[in-house]
Amino acid sequence: MSELALLGGKPVIEGNLPPYPSMGKAEEEAVRDVVASGCLSGFFGSPGPEFLGGPKVRMFEDAWVTRFGVKHAVSVNSNTSGLYAAMGAIGLSPGDEVIVPPWTMSATVVSPLIYGGIPVFADIEDETFCIDPEKVKAQITPKTRAIVAVNLFGHPARIADLRAIADAHGIYLIEDNAQAPLGVEHDRPTGTVGHIGVASLNFHKHIHTGEGGVCVTDDDNLAKRLRLIRNHAENAAVHEGITDLVNMVGFNFRMTELSAAVGLVQLADIERHVAARERLAERLSDGTRDLAGWTVPKVRDGCRHNYYVWLVRYDEAKVGVSRELFCKALNAEGFPNFPAYLPPLYRLPLFRRRTAIGREGWPFTLTDRTYADGQCPVTERLHEREAILFEPCAYDVDDDLADKMIAAIRKVHAHRADLNAAADQLQTGT
Ligand SMILES: Cc1ncc(COP(=O)(O)O)c(C=O)c1O
Repeated sequence: MSELALLGGKPVIEGNLPPYPSMGKAEEEAVRDVVASGCLSGFFGSPGPEFLGGPKVRMFEDAWVTRFGVKHAVSVNSNTSGLYAAMGAIGLSPGDEVIVPPWTMSATVVSPLIYGGIPVFADIEDETFCIDPEKVKAQITPKTRAIVAVNLFGHPARIADLRAIADAHGIYLIEDNAQAPLGVEHDRPTGTVGHIGVASLNFHKHIHTGEGGVCVTDDDNLAKRLRLIRNHAENAAVHEGITDLVNMVGFNFRMTELSAAVGLVQLADIERHVAARERLAERLSDGTRDLAGWTVPKVRDGCRHNYYVWLVRYDEAKVGVSRELFCKALNAEGFPNFPAYLPPLYRLPLFRRRTAIGREGWPFTLTDRTYADGQCPVTERLHEREAILFEPCAYDVDDDLADKMIAAIRKVHAHRADLNAAADQLQTGT
């Protein structure tokens, strides 16, 4: 009889992990004040003072400008909306190529399609999992209009290098900063190095407003276009002095006063929210880094990692147990985890079938680019064999519980031979 919970032993962690209590009294009061004011949204979709939103939205944007040292912050109702607005703001046109990483959330790579742009995948770096500047360079063609860098799992991409590449080619760098709100690379906050950076405030992020997002930029023209696209651009573009009407058909990406009020409270406390994740991840790393076949996240010199995800690289040959079985045993010990992140996104049916917006595969009818396997081998290897991930933002983990998580990992690792002995039985479920 094995001690492993999967094989009938007692789990290290009993019961579900406590969810992270992201909302407090201050958020409650902020919401109450907005409800009492009767103004839940201050936007109108036509030229005039309300075109830019209500008082809380403006205060929230001002606070964001101050916190991140940027010239403009444009709130939106999600990071996805922010990415769509960014693609419109840079004037993306049908057939333009946008270089994206394959390991990210789908909104990153789908955003160019909204304007008929063509996503082109460039592989990621082995150790930080962010887009590899050398692979980006290899994909640049006269059609390339932008690069999207994702500061994945909370670690900065090589954003200074990517900005230099973008500037050298006269193209845009957009940062999808959904997962790294306080990331830093060489003293520069993530999200502020690209021409536009986009934050997420969805429920799963370090700070949140239920749903929400913020675009930042230092470029007055891009800011103006972002604000127009957010709010029915077609009604106000000419009034706002925009003469280049490309992509000046707008959406409703407006943030409510309720979200902005919560956002103000969360933003004031952002350091605490992020630091809690960092502390947990570092404790997990310190407690397990000596294990064979278990590589804890690396932090590149000069970087701050925000640990949206704590991702371990697993070496099946060294551990001697399949990743899937190890993860199953760890789950049984009460430590929720996932073998892998999302599949390389070129495997999405819409890319494989080259069918996005309309009939006949538009906009893929504008390109010869295809989306076969093998184009990003680092991502494929991580996905298929090596990645194990845990979500620090989801749980409220004190030191005691973190130590139990470490004990759970160490227990499964120490008893891995039992898993192999029982593998046939576990796989057949007998
Ligand atoms: C890297 C990345 N990009 C985009 C998004 C989409 O964010 P939202 O849910 O705010 O639209 C997410 C959300 O998980 C994300 O992690």
